[in-house]
Amino acid sequence: MLDRDAELSFLWELFTRCARGKGGAAVITGPVATGKTELLHAFAARARRSGASTLIARGTSAQRETPLGVLRQLFRRAPLSPELQVRLIRLLDEGTRRAALAGPDTADAVQLRIAQSLWELLKRMAGQRPVLIGVADLHLADRASLCCLRYFVRGAGSSRVLAVVTEPDRPRRVHQLIDLDPGRRPHCHRVALTPLLPREVTRILASRLDTHAAFHVAADCHALSGGIPLLVQALLEDYRGALTPGAAFARAVLACLNRLESTELAVAQAIAVLGEHGSPDLVARLLGTTRAATANALTVLNAALLDSGRFRHPAARLAALGGMDPQRRDEWERRAADLLQAAPEPAVVPAEPVAPAARPANSLVADPSYALSDAELRVASLATLGYSNREIAGELHITVSTVEQHLTRTYRKLRVNGRAKLAERLLVETSDRG
Ligand SMILES: Nc1ncnc2c1ncn2[C@@H]1O[C@H](COP(=O)(O)OP(=O)(O)O)[C@@H](O)[C@H]1O
Ligand SMILES: [Mg+2]
Repeated sequence: MLDRDAELSFLWELFTRCARGKGGAAVITGPVATGKTELLHAFAARARRSGASTLIARGTSAQRETPLGVLRQLFRRAPLSPELQVRLIRLLDEGTRRAALAGPDTADAVQLRIAQSLWELLKRMAGQRPVLIGVADLHLADRASLCCLRYFVRGAGSSRVLAVVTEPDRPRRVHQLIDLDPGRRPHCHRVALTPLLPREVTRILASRLDTHAAFHVAADCHALSGGIPLLVQALLEDYRGALTPGAAFARAVLACLNRLESTELAVAQAIAVLGEHGSPDLVARLLGTTRAATANALTVLNAALLDSGRFRHPAARLAALGGMDPQRRDEWERRAADLLQAAPEPAVVPAEPVAPAARPANSLVADPSYALSDAELRVASLATLGYSNREIAGELHITVSTVEQHLTRTYRKLRVNGRAKLAERLLVETSDRG
């Protein structure tokens, strides 16, 4: 688990409050594959080690229509006495029956009694030890479970129950479970994950490659991955002395695409098919959707997988094309050619339309680190990662005075006057450029 320390500490703070009888709820949000589920699991593992009962579930599109499916998962391993187990199963069965009988308008009301009884069970469990309820992908939870979870969250503030859920960022999505107005629900929180920053990508690379190599590929790795941890890891897996997207990268791109909702996936695939002609307007026409729907999907995609409406590398586009159903792809390619022919723009040829926004990998022309010798770069890299001169000396098996000499020369070459500026010049500039 890398670079989510601040978020983990925040959740841990909520947990310690919960253990003292002030529970609550938190929703972890963020773009696709930024590590929401990973963070939830890391936090749950920590809570479990410290003695909490952890009830974990995950929403899935397959189970979305199964009443109380998520709650069944949650309570699967609940530490309850045999009588309470029987009671639990009866409650869940009754809830499922009622949900089947209820119409859409009464669906929530019929769950209220079930929710109350389950809450009583949870509070009993919380009498023994704090309870963590964790639900990944809450947006895919069934309606009856959501209704119960909302009930739990309402009572959590004065209990030893903490609910932590994950939901992807979507334009205008209301977080149904958690009222994020802190004035009204001070015990409800949001933990917003963002893609990894250039310096965070650098740190991950530095923990796996030698410092010099890490530094040289950091900017490209950030540009190719968009800071998505899943893609960073894939690029590392493909790394063979150079940062070249390979099979692992293609698999990871497909894994990201598979996490999208259907409209978003269709827009990503349309952009793959249209290549350099993939304007929002053409995408909407190819898919037969509205411009607004396309724009919403693009917002989601640009937050992670795409950069200004384009795949970040031809390899990502090819992976997206390769993941398409061949029949659909043929049909869309034909339609795209027709649309482009009919388009009022100057005649365009739809063949080989690969035009990624990313620079080619390993282009380091404007990189200030090029001015430095290998030894200087190694020292500078560790300095920007926060090592003291003594620690650098220990790490590189050189004397402290050699470290100082290297740093002085580095400052002079890069025209900076100290460590803080060095980090800025090396980490931020080289990684953000492009
Ligand atoms: N902080 C992290 N450090 C290292 N790898 C991570 C981190 N967060 C996520 N990953 C990797 O990225 C993948 C996607 O993370 P996941 O939590 O499933 O994303 P999300 O739930 O946001 O869609 C994980 O399988 C894991 O391999
Ligand atoms: Mg997830």
